[in-house]
Amino acid sequence: MILPYRKVSIAPMMDWTNRHFRYFIRLITKYVNLYTEMISEHAIYHKRNSQKDLKHLLDYDSCEHPLIFQIGGSHIPIIKECVKIVEEWNYDGININCGCPSEKVFENQFGAILMAKPRFIANIVKEIKKVSKLPVSIKHRLGIKSNHLDKTHYEDLKEFIKICYNEGGCEHFIIHARHAYLGKYSPKKNRVVPPLIYEWVYQIKEEFPELMIEINGGIDNIQDILNHLKYVDAVMIGRAAYEDPYFLIDIDEVFLNQKNSLSRKEIFLKFVSYVLDQIDQGIYPHSVVIHTFGLFRGIKNSNKWKQYLTKELTNLKKYPIEKLPKELVYDILTKSLEILPEPIYEANRHTIVL
Ligand SMILES: Cc1cc2nc3c(=O)[nH]c(=O)nc-3n(C[C@H](O)[C@H](O)[C@H](O)COP(=O)(O)O)c2cc1C
Repeated sequence: MILPYRKVSIAPMMDWTNRHFRYFIRLITKYVNLYTEMISEHAIYHKRNSQKDLKHLLDYDSCEHPLIFQIGGSHIPIIKECVKIVEEWNYDGININCGCPSEKVFENQFGAILMAKPRFIANIVKEIKKVSKLPVSIKHRLGIKSNHLDKTHYEDLKEFIKICYNEGGCEHFIIHARHAYLGKYSPKKNRVVPPLIYEWVYQIKEEFPELMIEINGGIDNIQDILNHLKYVDAVMIGRAAYEDPYFLIDIDEVFLNQKNSLSRKEIFLKFVSYVLDQIDQGIYPHSVVIHTFGLFRGIKNSNKWKQYLTKELTNLKKYPIEKLPKELVYDILTKSLEILPEPIYEANRHTIVL
């Protein structure tokens, strides 16, 4: 069951974990599972008859494998159609979003509210399995609370997992170790205010040793990843991977025994050719490069570097994309690195090696 899954994943994050960011992350680590942002059932379904539109939505680089598709939705016939399409595009798994607390998602009856309907989710999993061989996982919270319902007890969580497993056959649960308060907090606050209760996730693993239990929430360094792995099967990293991606540089050495010796600057330089290729696909450099802005976090002049790139790359929008001079883009990107200091020593690679 665990293959092709790895012990570390980068979380699905809307507007962040698009294909540009995922390509960029692969320069830092080959090991982790990557997830798409949540894509709604309707987004795929409405585009199902246009290969061009589907390509825009579903295309990715082969280096992104293992790549899991996260779907948001609750209409079983539509989800089934979408899953067939996702399988044709050779994704490595399907993940159902049962953790998003946004009001819009809540109104459309998917995301975290689905935690109140474990039998319904179990049925979705069962129906997906009828049309696809892809492994199905569920990403959810510890529990949910709204004006009308309170599912915040450990027993509610246990019941949710038990039903999804026994009745739906789901064997992989990714648990964001916080409750979600629907209608009370914004999605952003719902990622910060409710306390992390890792022990509940550990306890779930103890009670369901046969399941793959992945923990998520507030994990931002390799030592903590390794600590969590004493209790659960896998660890999912969200914001830290986007805001400070270079901390992942040691992952391949730890889990694959393959050291990635690229410095931050070398990673950025490798990304430059990807940015230039994207111009041929009609994509302006700014919308690609912006996903690397966490790379020099904590390094002197990181903000100046970001400001320089933002200004220079935004200016390029005055060119029609087909007339955009690639040499100019190359010069801007490589010159930007001069703003950053030269590496001094390698004692602490997370903060010093550029
Ligand atoms: C900008 C942003 C967008 C997110 N979008 C999604 C999403 O599309 N699907 C999802 O399941 N979770 C989404 N999340 C939640 C993350 O996947 C993750 O569960 C959460 O950030 C907690 O992990 P962390 O503390 O490591 O960031 C998003 C989080 C952020 C910050």
